Amino acid sequence: MAKKTQDFVCQGCGATYTRWQGKCDACGEWNTIAEEGTATERILSAGPGRPPRKGKPFALQPLAGEQREAPRIASGNGEFDRVAGGGLVPGSVLLVGGDPGIGKSTLLIQIAGALAGAGHRSVYITGEESVAQVRLRAERLGLTALPVELAAETSVEDIIATLSQGKIPRLVVIDSIQTMWTDMVESAPGTVTQVRASAQLLIRFAKRAGSAVILVGHVTKDGQIAGPRVVEHMVDAVLSFEGEGGHHFRILRAAKNRFGATDEIGVFEMTGGGLAEVANPSAIFLSERELGAPGTVVFAGMEGTRPLLVEFQALVAPTSLGTPRRAVVGWDPARLAMVLAVLEAHCGVKLGGYDVYLNVAGGLRIQEPAADLAAAAALVSSLAKTPLPADAVLFGEVSLSGAVRPVAHAPARLKEARKLGFGRAVVPEATRGAEQDGLSLAPVATLADLVARILPG
Ligand code: TYD
Ligand code: MG
Repeated sequence: MAKKTQDFVCQGCGATYTRWQGKCDACGEWNTIAEEGTATERILSAGPGRPPRKGKPFALQPLAGEQREAPRIASGNGEFDRVAGGGLVPGSVLLVGGDPGIGKSTLLIQIAGALAGAGHRSVYITGEESVAQVRLRAERLGLTALPVELAAETSVEDIIATLSQGKIPRLVVIDSIQTMWTDMVESAPGTVTQVRASAQLLIRFAKRAGSAVILVGHVTKDGQIAGPRVVEHMVDAVLSFEGEGGHHFRILRAAKNRFGATDEIGVFEMTGGGLAEVANPSAIFLSERELGAPGTVVFAGMEGTRPLLVEFQALVAPTSLGTPRRAVVGWDPARLAMVLAVLEAHCGVKLGGYDVYLNVAGGLRIQEPAADLAAAAALVSSLAKTPLPADAVLFGEVSLSGAVRPVAHAPARLKEARKLGFGRAVVPEATRGAEQDGLSLAPVATLADLVARILPG
């Protein structure tokens, strides 16, 4: 019996429907469902009309056996390699997602160049631009002397046939997966079906040939073309390239990585000559700091294995609304709500009549609970119109009881603070004794201790 076909596919998440509807039940997005030719499901699940094949038995392996660390090819770009887990793994497929214009093509042509420069065969396929445009960009980036092989192609079958000739490339960049199409399916390029089928073929090529394949995926908000989410589960690693409009910093972050940690970030700066690696991000994120302003404090954070100092800015102002505003950029709104509740319940700081704004400078997104203490200090400092000492950093998690709890990697945080010229650190009580030369500690056991130090009287 023929399987019932589902021909309407959400371009955001790939959920399928038999009829068109305005809202996708799976991801909740509106107007993302589009018709995709016929028999989508049949093609996806069975391949184009292949007869069923009798399976061949294979040998099963014991769990304990000879194992080797996946060999890696370092691209030579330190920030990229850090996020990728130490370099590219042969036969793996990596998806780099990000908003249009954020710098994905720039980053990847630079990576392709770096690999080619190190003597690896490196191929860059663009479906978005012409060869001339890519050359122009490479010229701006000073990469023209490097033997990157280039093509403007969109047929996956042709691309794989080309790549399978001669020496197998070490790196293949496909910019972008949304422009690729395969004869295997009928729907238009950019649809979920095409994107998935094209990705599937390229993944199979990577595994067979042993090339590292990097797929570029645009994040799309309007759902006109399928988002990178529809291939996320198929690839080995998903990196997202982020940045705030108006800032030059770009952050590369791993959302998934079968071969490494996901908490590392890579920091780049978009310059006239392409993406420059930022080896010392703390210095950059603190470079525009306003010294002595109430409501600003420095948080000694960690991103993966690397300490990162960032500025937290708060503005607490009497509200003119019935319900005061709570706005936060770069931090978790739920944690802000918790810190406000603890300030109110355990420290006598009443903020019910105030609007509260909290911002992490530089367009960074902080996810650590260790930032609680810094956020609270910024809020109280703004409320009291009292600046904190400019040479102080803070870290510590705040519990619902108002206690300041210890956090991981205290020595690394303190070392980074000292390196950048800070003279003191407000830390959890448990961190007492981790003094470094030239850095004095002010341990606090509770959030109320900290508030008592900031608020006069
Ligand atoms: P691009 O890599 O084309 O973005 P994506 O592939 O993610 O869409 O980069 C786009 C932006 O980067 C563009 O607005 C110009 C800027 N840019 C620079 O500032 N310096 C450079 O050297 C290059 C190549 C681009
Ligand atoms: Mg691009």
